[in-house]
Amino acid sequence: MERLLKDEAEIRALGLALAAKARPGTVIALIGDLGTGKTTLAKAIAEGLGVTESVTSPTFAIIKEYASGRLPFHHFDAYRLGSPEEMYALGFEEYFCGDGVTVVEWANLVEEFLPKDAMVIDIAYGQNAGERRVRVKGIGDADASV
Ligand SMILES: Nc1ncnc2c1ncn2[C@@H]1O[C@H](COP(=O)(O)OP(=O)(O)OP(=O)(O)O)[C@@H](O)[C@H]1O
Ligand SMILES: [Mg+2]
Repeated sequence: MERLLKDEAEIRALGLALAAKARPGTVIALIGDLGTGKTTLAKAIAEGLGVTESVTSPTFAIIKEYASGRLPFHHFDAYRLGSPEEMYALGFEEYFCGDGVTVVEWANLVEEFLPKDAMVIDIAYGQNAGERRVRVKGIGDADASV
């Protein structure tokens, strides 16, 4: 299912809806070109989970954890990962298989590490400024209704 979201507010609304559906162990894989809004969406998911800390892009840290929401929130950014093997060093299994909610930016770079039941969200630029084409797949596609 592909949706056309017309501005950042609609991306935020999607993030809040995803957060409401998130369960312990939910992994949300974000795929999209530079600046399409992956961090913006991740921040809205964190907000929806009730995270009170300020959420900043984990590009250089690769992984950041936030404990103040209704579930632990883990925010990955694979963009600067030196090699896939670094995922093992980071202990990714503890994040993906734990009780938290994990959002992965640039998830296409670590596809082989994602759990099979991860929700995959593709974000692409639309024709007009601010517009994004968003495809949501996964979790039996039942959740694709968000
Ligand atoms: N519809 C929209 N959804 C999300 N962001 C939007 C939208 N329209 C404009 N923007 C702007 O686009 C930028 C998106 O930046 P953001 O850091 O979220 O992207 P990103 O995909 O995480 O980038 P990177 O690839 O560097 O990680 C922000 O400056 C935001 O204000
Ligand atoms: Mg980002």
